[in-house]
Amino acid sequence: MANFAGKNVIVGQSGGPTAVINSSLAGVYQTAKELEAKKVYGMKYGIEGLLNSQVVDLGSVLQSHMDIELLKRTPSSYLGSCRYKLPSMEEKPEVYEKLFAILEKLEIGACFYIGGNDSMDTINKLSAWGAKINSPIRFIGVPKTIDNDLELTDHTPGFGSAAKYIATILKEIIRDSTVYDLRSVTVVEIMGRNAGWLTGAACLAKGDDCDGADMILLPEVALDPEDFLKKVDELQKHKSSVIVAVSEGVKLADGRYVCELVSEAKIDAFGHKAALSGTGRYLADLISSRIGCKARAIEFSTLQRCAAHVASRTDITEAYQAGGAAVKAAFDGQTGKMAAFKRASEIPYQCHVEMVDVCDVANKEKPVPRSWITEDGYNVTDEFRAYVRPLIQAELTPIYIDGTPRHICLK
Ligand code: F6P
Repeated sequence: MANFAGKNVIVGQSGGPTAVINSSLAGVYQTAKELEAKKVYGMKYGIEGLLNSQVVDLGSVLQSHMDIELLKRTPSSYLGSCRYKLPSMEEKPEVYEKLFAILEKLEIGACFYIGGNDSMDTINKLSAWGAKINSPIRFIGVPKTIDNDLELTDHTPGFGSAAKYIATILKEIIRDSTVYDLRSVTVVEIMGRNAGWLTGAACLAKGDDCDGADMILLPEVALDPEDFLKKVDELQKHKSSVIVAVSEGVKLADGRYVCELVSEAKIDAFGHKAALSGTGRYLADLISSRIGCKARAIEFSTLQRCAAHVASRTDITEAYQAGGAAVKAAFDGQTGKMAAFKRASEIPYQCHVEMVDVCDVANKEKPVPRSWITEDGYNVTDEFRAYVRPLIQAELTPIYIDGTPRHICLK
């Protein structure tokens, strides 16, 4: 900690937001203050904004205890976000020279980036350049993604709250879908790109007061539309209202996304198909034309990642802890790491934070293990349910002013 005295720190948020990404920001900010960092800067719009020197002194905008409490309860990325891929340092060293010149001008001792697998690519590249030029600046990643697809961590902040939203809203949809005495299918489309963790969380809707989803379709299992229709038909022999939870990233056996049957997907900076929506609509239309019953598509879209009013308190707390642990690690001299969760016990649920090498997380996607998906590929197992259940526990009520939750926003 000795050679850190008098230095500033900087933090950025990147990729798709979550309901608790600001709790990690609060964890970074508070811990850096406690460890006596001189100033805590925020990058506006992530690394892309930093390249244009867009920074904010967080001490000038987060002034009271109430500001921190609001930050923890405010969804989306307070600092703004980006989906910007840093070029390789061989290809464009000038980008790194520019970034490090900005960091040095700001007298930065440690840099934190809150994000998913693409954002860890940024931390990985920055720490590699730092090592190359013998920079004393430390770089640590703080995990975040509703997709829960990061390697080397039990789970990612943001996932638990999105899972809680899905389980809660699905139960409400199921109540609504059973009111008429007629055959119907409701297809609910859930985010998660190429990993089915979040769609799998639909299993949490099931309990002694609710049948839950009848089918859960994950990207890990190729979809055969004919077999799917047969399965829906079979289910309708026993119950009139069938509920299907489907991932936006479900693919056909030939590797094409189902949503590509509807429209061509655009590619983002990291080579991912962006805005994968339309799978639910496609399946509902297929059911309606082939089976002929009422079929409704519901797309949770951004609602599932910004629903802070139903966030998991476990998730909010862990997001904060990950931010705090990242700062402590940097102050202890670590760099090129990501804060990761290690589950020590299932009952009672206990997790602690440890540091892992960010190069082993960057750009990788962790799928749901095949053994956690039922043999027929149409549901998840009890093991999956036991894994996800602790992550949605408890609530942190928003601070309601005049009937709506109060948020804090960067002007
Ligand atoms: O980063 C996670 C995620 O929410 C994915 O689940 C989803 O496919 C993607 O982001 C959507 O990206 P955007 O916010 O850029 O539309």
